[in-house]
Amino acid sequence: MADKVKILVVNGPNLNMLGSREPETYGVLTLDAIREKCLAISTKLGFTMEWMQSNSEAILIDTIQAACNKFDWIIVNGAGLTHTSVALRDALALFTGGVIEVHLSNIHARENFRHTSLITAIANGAIIGFGASSYTIAINAIAEMQEES
Ligand code: DQA
Repeated sequence: MADKVKILVVNGPNLNMLGSREPETYGVLTLDAIREKCLAISTKLGFTMEWMQSNSEAILIDTIQAACNKFDWIIVNGAGLTHTSVALRDALALFTGGVIEVHLSNIHARENFRHTSLITAIANGAIIGFGASSYTIAINAIAEMQEES
């Protein structure tokens, strides 16, 4: 039997505050509730999923470096670092597997400073603006791509 697909979900600064953080923009689900949804879908699809969140850019970068050759995909919500961090982008660029960028909100419909993502150009693709479903759509996309390959 083929090895299980291994997905790492990386969440950046302030996403630990979901649920109470600007619910009109980010929805009412906590990050833990989103993790549960993703875990349920991953398990159903036969994938293994690990999940992390950090407010520290260094921890995010260390985690991505350590994921090389261990995970097949990273699903990343870089949060505010999406728009500012060359270092986070560079870490994702050296990752050995695929990268899917996700955002809860539609960053292109918000303030100008959110319109630029330093990550999109090095990602396989981006899923933006579907709330918590951005994450589950990303997992389902991996499943569909697996079927096609
Ligand atoms: C976000 C969008 C970013 O602009 C913001 O800084 C976040 C969350 C999103 O998921 O919509 O923290 O990445």
